[in-house]
Amino acid sequence: MNVQYGVRAPWIGGDTSALNWRRSFHGRVDEIGGARDFVGFLLANTRFAEQAEFAVSEFAGNALRHTISGQRGGWFCVHIGMGANGMAISDHGGPRATVCVAVRDLGGSGIPAIEVREGHESRGGLAAIAEFAVTLGCDGSPQRGHLVWAELGLPEAA
Ligand SMILES: Nc1ncnc2c1ncn2[C@@H]1O[C@H](COP(=O)(O)OP(=O)(O)OP(=O)(O)O)[C@@H](O)[C@H]1O
Ligand SMILES: [Mg+2]
Repeated sequence: MNVQYGVRAPWIGGDTSALNWRRSFHGRVDEIGGARDFVGFLLANTRFAEQAEFAVSEFAGNALRHTISGQRGGWFCVHIGMGANGMAISDHGGPRATVCVAVRDLGGSGIPAIEVREGHESRGGLAAIAEFAVTLGCDGSPQRGHLVWAELGLPEAA
């Protein structure tokens, strides 16, 4: 799976049946821990907290490293969307994804994409997220900035 480019994030913005939270952070590396905690707190009673914390750390790191969010005065914003049944699924299982975590950045140049790396070089953060996300996607443009998102779901019910 690569990053689905130009695709709106599910559960975030516009879907009135979803729960939505967002918070912005200064564009500094020492803000990543706060972004992680924000997600961990809000998703603590779902099955998605760990995956969501990992994804948001990587997305925030990318925003800082690859966009002007990381430059002086920059910022990034963490978004969380959860389908209305986000609680119920933890007991009943099923393939439906109900949580989406995302980071908005300020853009500048380039687009998020999974890189093919040769040999023993470790995979990048996006490749690691693609291993567990139902969908990895991105909306926006280098000029406007991107909203990079991961939809998290449950494995098929046994
Ligand atoms: N928010 C973003 N805006 C623009 N380009 C991005 C963004 N996120 C990722 N990219 C591009 O996608 C590439 C792959 O990202 P990925 O997170 O997988 O690896 P990385 O950030 O280069 O390395 P690592 O995550 O291992 O530190 C990046 O090198 C960068 O070119
Ligand atoms: Mg990265």
